[in-house]
Parts: sequence; structure tokens; C-alpha cells
Amino acid sequence: MPPNLRNRRNNPPDSAQPRVVEVDTDEEAEITRATAQQQERNQNEKAGQGKHSKGKHSKGKVYKTDADDDDEEAGISLLDVIRVIVTLVVLVVGLSYYVTAGESYVWGFESQRPWWMRYNGIKQFLKGPVNLTPSELALYNGSDPSLPIYLALNGTIIDVSANPSIYGPGGGYHFFVGRDASRAFVTGCFQEDLTNDMTGVEEMYIPIEDDDDSQHERALTKGEKQRRHEAEVNEAREKVRAQVSHWVGFYSNHKKYFAVGHVILEDDEDRETEKLVLCEGAQHNRPRRSELNKQL
Ligand code: HEM
Repeated sequence: MPPNLRNRRNNPPDSAQPRVVEVDTDEEAEITRATAQQQERNQNEKAGQGKHSKGKHSKGKVYKTDADDDDEEAGISLLDVIRVIVTLVVLVVGLSYYVTAGESYVWGFESQRPWWMRYNGIKQFLKGPVNLTPSELALYNGSDPSLPIYLALNGTIIDVSANPSIYGPGGGYHFFVGRDASRAFVTGCFQEDLTNDMTGVEEMYIPIEDDDDSQHERALTKGEKQRRHEAEVNEAREKVRAQVSHWVGFYSNHKKYFAVGHVILEDDEDRETEKLVLCEGAQHNRPRRSELNKQL
């Protein structure tokens, strides 16, 4: 505040005294400048409010200070960025937990991880593959507590030691361990089919020709029936492959199980074997031509 103004406030004019106002030219210039600055500030303020609040909140006065200007210039700090990231991570993790009903914090990604993103996978990689002959593999059936529990599927050996209650002695799926029982994984015949021999297994998906006398069946020529059969055999083989790879995927992507190596053939295993007969359970579940024609 200019000194002259301060003096005037401290010493109010005496009413008895003649009202002679002494105007200092310096003071006049100061007042004019201050008024101009205030007007300019008011104009800026109005313009700012119009831009941001579109006139809605124009009743409340906003005073811009130098500190505000400094804040605007400072922009987004590192702390702000960290705060936003942490908030987003907490939200995403919480949402995943809620959506998956407590199953996963990361949207089930843990079961999709490749082997090199799993502790057991890396450990196994460093140890090197475990390649066993069928008779060696038989030792890993859970009877010896000092050995891990292995099963094999389509030649790949899987460590299932993490679930001894299912695969150990007395477990519901103990019959799968210590061997490659791929055939049983497809047919569901857990007594007869504990082997890796897949010959003729596709038959389970090929319809039984039960002399259907429907109009549709009678209308087909011999050649058409032959072509249909060939297509159905191909389709059945594809279903067997899909079923096997379903179970391979189940074990390879499981969070507790992991692949350790491969089954190696013993010399006498290359010999020609007899074609296995389809087990009773799978035979019983085969589709029938008459039933299929009814659905057309
Ligand atoms: C082709 C037929 C089948 C195959 C290949 C098969 C195979 C399997 C496999 C590999 C598991 C996973 C075990 C694990 O978590 O490591 C499983 C679990 C299970 N299966 Fe089957 N299964 C078949 C049919 C059946 C049938 C018909 C039933 C019912 C009577 C059944 C009942 C169960 C039960 C209850 C479990 C859970 C076991 C547990 O977590 O304790 N399965 N099955």
C-alpha cells in the first residue's frame, strides 16, 4: 500500500477542518494503475469461468492466486501417475476376484501361462527332461513315497504329485498313474483300456448300421453310403485327436501339474499288435443310424 494512503486511513479527516483534499500525483497514478490491473484481472477471471464452467457456476467467485498458477504449470507429478496405476491395478484385481467368484485375481491367466512362466516348469527345464521307458514309468505310481507320481498321455509324462489324494494309492484316479493310458482317457473304460494303443478307438464315434428302413436311408445309393461312411470315419478320428488333446491341455495348463518328459519305446514295443476291440462301455454309447436319421 502506498505510504500516503496508509497515512490517510490512520488519521481520519477532522470534520471541523476545511475539506481540502490533497492529491498527490504519484498517488493518483498508483490508484489508476491498481484499478486498471483489477479490471484486467476481473476480465480474465470472467473469461476463465466462461470456458470451464460454461456459466453454470458463475455465481461463486474464483480467485486465482500465484500458487494456483504454479500448480497449473507443475502438471501431473510422478506421484499422481503412481496413484492412478495403483488404483487401476486394485480395481482390475478386485473385479477379477469378484467375476471369477474368488477363483482368480488375474482373470484365470495363471492357468494359461506357458511353462517358462511357471515355477515348476522352469525348475523342470533346469533339471532336464525325464525320459522313461514304460517299465521305468511304472515305478512312479505313488507306491514309493520317495518318488514323484507320474502319468503319461500320448507319450508326454506329467507330474501329478501335487494331488496324491486323487492319484496316490487309494485315490479315485490312481489307475492312470505309472503308465500311458491314453485310450482310457478317450473311451472311459478304466479297467480294460489302460493302454496307449489307440487302434480302432475311433469306432466309438462311428454310427452302428442298424438296418434303418427310413425313407431317407432307402433313398441313398451304395456309393453315397460309402462316401458317408468315409466322412464319418475321418470325423471320428478327429474327435479322438480332440479328446486326447483336451486332456493333454488339461494337464499341461493345470496350475499344479506339469510336463516332465516323454515315454521312450522299449525295443519289443515296435512289434505289430492285435487290433483292440472297442470296450463294452464305449460300444454301448455308440450312435445308431436309425436314431441319427430320425434327427434329420
Ligand atoms: C472318459 C471319461 C472320464 C475321464 C477320462 C475322466 C478323467 C478325469 C480326470 C483326468 C479328472 C481330473 C483329476 C484331477 O483333478 O487331477 C477327473 C476328475 C473327476 N472325475 Fe472324471 N473322468 C471321466 C468320467 C467321469 C465320470 C463318468 C464321473 C462320474 C461318475 C467322473 C467323476 C469325476 C470326479 C468326481 C472328479 C473330481 C475328482 C476330484 O477332484 O476329487 N469322471 N476325471
